[in-house]
Amino acid sequence: MSSVDTTIQLISANEIDGEVCSTDLAEGPWVFDLLAEPGYGPGSSMHDEIPAETPRQGEIPAEYREASDEELEARIFAAKETLGDRVVVLGHFYQRDEVVRYADFVGDSFQLANAARSKPQAEAIVFCGVHFMAETADILARPDQAVILPNLAAGCSMADMADIDSVAECWEQLEALYGTEPDADGRVPVIPVTYMNSSAALKGFCAEHGGIVCTSSNAATVLEWAFERGQRVLFFPDQHLGRNTAKAMGVPVELMPMWNPRKPLGGNEAQELEDARVILWHGFCSVHKRFTVGQIEKARAEFPGVQVLVHPECPMPVVDAADAAGSTDFIGKAIAAATEPTTFAIGTEINMVNRLAAQYPQHRIFCLDPVICPCSTMYRIHPAYLAWVLEGLVRGETINRIRVADDVAVPARVALERMLAARPGGPSERVIGD
Ligand code: 13P
Ligand code: SF4
Repeated sequence: MSSVDTTIQLISANEIDGEVCSTDLAEGPWVFDLLAEPGYGPGSSMHDEIPAETPRQGEIPAEYREASDEELEARIFAAKETLGDRVVVLGHFYQRDEVVRYADFVGDSFQLANAARSKPQAEAIVFCGVHFMAETADILARPDQAVILPNLAAGCSMADMADIDSVAECWEQLEALYGTEPDADGRVPVIPVTYMNSSAALKGFCAEHGGIVCTSSNAATVLEWAFERGQRVLFFPDQHLGRNTAKAMGVPVELMPMWNPRKPLGGNEAQELEDARVILWHGFCSVHKRFTVGQIEKARAEFPGVQVLVHPECPMPVVDAADAAGSTDFIGKAIAAATEPTTFAIGTEINMVNRLAAQYPQHRIFCLDPVICPCSTMYRIHPAYLAWVLEGLVRGETINRIRVADDVAVPARVALERMLAARPGGPSERVIGD
């Protein structure tokens, strides 16, 4: 099976049939680094509003932009060989195959946060993922280890939907409404929980206000932790992960108002906030928003017996209509566990789905979305950038280092340590047959 990148090139050149959400995906990502108007680049987040302060990537040298695939491959292998144990390359499941093949560890955001600490002897951690993951690695790694993001424009549009000022403003309004006194059981009025997909500043904010970080693999365990300590949870930035997880734990949807940062009281009546169990921030992932109940119905009509597995960043009706929902790692493990040839329809990022299809030829595995539309920010990483930063390390130059200042990193580490102690599992990961 050809990679997503190759398929996009063939469709864009009219050599095979198929649909991509943007033919610009066939271009090298460096084309989008230099546009006067910043943007997330072609792909699923391309229409999301980008905050002015989002990091941008300058022009990478022509020798990398113009190098052939074969030349980049030879240069990356040579640089890795020279650097040996001095470097560790981490790759998220959503990275393109052309990048994942160089990774020493491939995993979901929880596993990669742990992997960042697993090679304390490495001088540099090259993180082929997105900005918040590199920030997390920097917070968890040894202070003298450099964390490198090969393309600084590899952000996350969902993470950018909650900024520290808007969350602090929301918190002030909630404190004015609820006060700060604990109830008879010692539970404070509200606990902040941020999804891993958020800035380090928000992770620090959570620690400073008695809160915690979660990933999609441990969201239920983390919410249980929060409900032991608080009467309510303020969950940001992903409304869908918050809603799906809390609903699976038995929280009625009516008790989960949404907070729109542009409106007073988030657009809610005071009584709705008083009654709330979970206050959901108005954020979403544009990759997972593409999945629909109609796609699931079509898959069920075409392939009786199909197993539909989706990520909990999908909207609630999609998660409800699926057979199982869980993190990227959960989806991979559910397929690995199938002993009989099975048809799987998957609701998560296309690079991961394609890789699973190639890895398990005994099963029929396809993406619910028929349009090829990778995560636009994950797609900003290309072997050209990897070669550039690795050869920089060989020369003794650290390019694109992600550093989190101590005043943010110290509290953020507290919230992350709380998260790492919360093991994956719980009702946010609903297994087949439940
Ligand atoms: P995981 O936590 O499953 O790796 O997902 C991260 C992500 O960005 C999903 O969109
Ligand atoms: Fe962010 Fe969605 Fe991309 Fe994940 S898939 S990095 S949440 S935009």
